[in-house]
Amino acid sequence: MLALAAVPVLMLLVLSSPAVAEDKSPQSANAAAGSAPSTEASKYVGAETCKTCHEELYNSWEKTPHWKTTLNKEGGPSHQGCEGCHGPGADHVAGGGDVSKIYTFKNASTKEINARCMNCHAGGPQHMNAINSVHTQNNVSCISCHSPHHAETKEALLKKAQPELCYSCHLQQKAQFEMPFHHRVNEGLIKCGDCHNPHGTVGPKQVRASSTQNAVCFGCHADKQGPFVFEHEPVKVEGCSSCHIPHGGANPHMLRVSNVNLLCLQCHTNSVPGGKTGAAPGAPSFHSQETFFKSCTLCHNQIHGSNFDATFFK
Ligand code: HEC
Ligand code: HEC
Ligand code: HEC
Ligand code: HEC
Ligand code: HEC
Ligand code: HEC
Ligand code: HEC
Ligand code: HEC
Ligand code: HEC
Ligand code: HEC
Repeated sequence: MLALAAVPVLMLLVLSSPAVAEDKSPQSANAAAGSAPSTEASKYVGAETCKTCHEELYNSWEKTPHWKTTLNKEGGPSHQGCEGCHGPGADHVAGGGDVSKIYTFKNASTKEINARCMNCHAGGPQHMNAINSVHTQNNVSCISCHSPHHAETKEALLKKAQPELCYSCHLQQKAQFEMPFHHRVNEGLIKCGDCHNPHGTVGPKQVRASSTQNAVCFGCHADKQGPFVFEHEPVKVEGCSSCHIPHGGANPHMLRVSNVNLLCLQCHTNSVPGGKTGAAPGAPSFHSQETFFKSCTLCHNQIHGSNFDATFFK
């Protein structure tokens, strides 16, 4: 039966080769359906009907979390099964599998694809910024990273596991995590997604945070959070990134500069009164810049803040 039905459809597929595929004819389901599937119940046939012709896809789909949508009585047929994403299928079935009568994701814009998925995934802190995320703005859609049918991971239906998924577009970051001192992302200890929300954030660079950008670091480095009786101002004001490169770099502790003294003296110089921040006192004059005093953190070893000592000795 399928074989018979498929003949005219195959011809259609040939006719709609890439060159003409962008011409969305009026009867195209993609153009007609847009991002909001029809709610007219008679247009829906249910996933069991789709199974009769698409058994392999049905069987693999049944093992994904999307199977749960069939239990969603509240949303009605437009929120269930295959048709929750592909829209109403009655005409497609009546046409013996007429591909112009079913919503496919082919040639759809990022905005349209995302809107489809977000019919169900708009809520919650994870996705609330997805509409305007940097990824969305740069035409990276939900299905650039996820594949409902052909996922390679068990986790979150991803096309590839992290970090390879991310490296497929972010080569520069790959190089950073290969530097001598780095967060062990390639080794699988932590993930890009621990620090970033690829679905977008309120703050810059899609860095996960609650109110301040530092919150993401405190999630794992709670000992640096304080509050301390004696805070070191740049930790609180400029943030961790003022001294560390978050991904990785050539210097121990992922510091921005090769020698600790050069880092400190960016702010603590007498020659530039006030230094970079405008409030940092210069290192006292007895700090001769001979070898001994260059290891600032030998003495000022609680550099992230202290409860005992204003100059961070303990
Ligand atoms: C969560 C949304 C979603 C659900 C549910 C869903 N699909 Fe899809 N479907 C897609 C997307 C997106 C594509 C485009 C290819 C891709 O990204 O995997 C697709 C592609 C397809 C294709 C094209 C061929 C292929 O293998 O890519 C067919 C046929 C198809 N779906 C049928 C079905 C059937 C049948 C069901 C129910 C058993 C179903 N889909 C459920 C989103 C969905
Ligand atoms: C009578 C058989 C039949 C039924 C029932 C059926 N289809 Fe299809 N469908 C086909 C055929 C034939 C094709 C074209 C060949 C192919 O891609 O597998 C097709 C293609 C598709 C495509 C891909 C179009 C493309 O351009 O790649 C999607 C998506 C799809 N069907 C979804 C569904 C959904 C959802 C249901 C249930 C509502 C469904 N089909 C029920 C026969 C059927
Ligand atoms: C009709 C509603 C609906 C639509 C439309 C929909 N989803 Fe889902 N999605 C769900 C439900 C329900 C779950 C399961 C949630 C759970 O397990 O608690 C889910 C789960 C997921 C998950 C998590 C899988 C996991 O392993 O936990 C991903 C990823 C996902 N959907 C991506 C997509 C993408 C991409 C699209 C658009 C192509 C999409 N969804 C469209 C309802 C939907
Ligand atoms: C740049 C890649 C990327 C894009 C684009 C993307 N996702 Fe995700 N998504 C992920 C990754 C990675 C995870 C795994 C959890 C994590 O690290 O945040 C995930 C997790 C999910 C989950 C399950 C976990 C959860 O916390 O809810 C859902 C559902 C989901 N994404 C839906 C979507 C939808 C809908 C879109 C489009 C609006 C989308 N994603 C766009 C990469 C992406
Ligand atoms: C330890 C936390 C952390 C991890 C893990 C992490 N990032 Fe970042 N990433 C950041 C921070 C913080 C910034 C902002 C840097 C800044 O403002 O100086 C950033 C910035 C970026 C940027 C913007 C460009 C730039 O360099 O400023 C991209 C792209 C990026 N990260 C991608 C990734 C990818 C891909 C992964 C995984 C392979 C990843 N990140 C893992 C914390 C992290
Ligand atoms: C399909 C390609 C693609 C994939 C896959 C992808 N990204 Fe992106 N990403 C982009 C593009 C394009 C931009 C915007 C241009 C830029 O800043 O590089 C971007 C921007 C970002 C930014 C913000 C940079 C800024 O300057 O604001 C971060 C952070 C980021 N991506 C992290 C990730 C992470 C983490 C993953 C994996 C879960 C990922 N990306 C997967 C293409 C991708
Ligand atoms: C004023 C510069 C500066 C700022 C800002 C800063 N650090 Fe550091 N950090 C350092 C220096 C210098 C070292 C090396 C200490 C040493 O040599 O013993 C270091 C070491 C570390 C270490 C490894 C050794 C240890 O103490 O555990 C971690 C982890 C760390 N910093 C995390 C953070 C986090 C998280 C933040 C933001 C809350 C932050 N740092 C902000 C200068 C800074
Ligand atoms: C998901 C957990 C996690 C997050 C979030 C995180 N880190 Fe780390 N960080 C680690 C772990 C684990 C190590 C230990 C590294 C190792 O042994 O490979 C580490 C080590 C470090 C070190 C010390 C390296 C050394 O040589 O002693 C610095 C500095 C650091 N992190 C800074 C940051 C900054 C800055 C942020 C925020 C942008 C951050 N971390 C966010 C888990 C995290
Ligand atoms: C980004 C600029 C910046 C960097 C880099 C920096 N500091 Fe500071 N530091 C400050 C500011 C601002 C204060 C606060 C001054 C105040 O509260 O009056 C301060 C305070 C101090 C104090 C306490 C001074 C006092 O009298 O209370 C010491 C000691 C100190 N820093 C040492 C260091 C060392 C050692 C390094 C290098 C590991 C370093 N700082 C890196 C900006 C910086
Ligand atoms: C041998 C130990 C030692 C080393 C190494 C050292 N310091 Fe100090 N530092 C001190 C002492 C002692 C004080 C005075 C503390 C006091 O007055 O209570 C001090 C005070 C300071 C102050 C506070 C000045 C003020 O006016 O309040 C700054 C800033 C400072 N050091 C920066 C640095 C920098 C930058 C380096 C590295 C280039 C460094 N120190 C290396 C011992 C050291």
